[in-house]
Amino acid sequence: MIVAGLQLDIAWEEPAENFRRAAVLAARAVSSGAHLLVLPELFASGYWFESEEQLRALAEPLDGPTLERVREWSHQLDCAIAAGFPERDGETIYNSALLTAPDGDLIHYRKLHLFGDEKRWFEPGDRPLEVVEYRGTKLGMMVCFDWRFPETARSLAFRGADLIIHPSNLVLPWCPDAMITRALENNVYIATSDRWGDDVHGDEKLHFIGQSQVVAPNGERLGRLGEHEDGIVEAEIDPERARNKSVSQWNDLWD
Ligand code: ACM
Repeated sequence: MIVAGLQLDIAWEEPAENFRRAAVLAARAVSSGAHLLVLPELFASGYWFESEEQLRALAEPLDGPTLERVREWSHQLDCAIAAGFPERDGETIYNSALLTAPDGDLIHYRKLHLFGDEKRWFEPGDRPLEVVEYRGTKLGMMVCFDWRFPETARSLAFRGADLIIHPSNLVLPWCPDAMITRALENNVYIATSDRWGDDVHGDEKLHFIGQSQVVAPNGERLGRLGEHEDGIVEAEIDPERARNKSVSQWNDLWD
């Protein structure tokens, strides 16, 4: 199976423009062979909210227009797609991500580890870390700052994930290197799809570091994008490689 991380700059409060940018990349990734596309965290809405009202105006339920559009792409392009979105469930708002495939939704995840200001607006996730099979590869999903807590990737690996997909809006510079360790300590693939650019409010801005990447179970970077570019990072996943947890004749990670 070929996974593709899609990296884009996100236009603030312009979901239609973000859809347009993401659709161009999605079509390109599928035409170059990808079976699974990973979009960034909160890819249509933008990340850095100034007020709860602003977030509420952009948050949607699981059957809202953002995800309906993502499901349509999945059908049209015949591939699975993971995408981050602000989820409204009654009065509660979560920083969520959906993994959907042409035959239906596969994982609905709510971010467990909220970063910075997110704690003002979002509730921490209340759903389990899940692993599902797609085209012979077992997939788990976590969102951005979950990277900082090794238990998240570990739990997904213990549940059998071959590949962890990781929609992100990275702010801290250490994540791309930390994911090498997460991959190595669990012997799994990790595909991080990040945004780049800035969210700007008046004189203040929040900068996102790009560098979307796919890392192999041995910690090798199979591809990595720059800090200031739209683009696609693609890699082939061999699930057998992730399932062999042997380090040497005498050492097995899971033993
Ligand atoms: C982050 O978790 N989006 C920094």
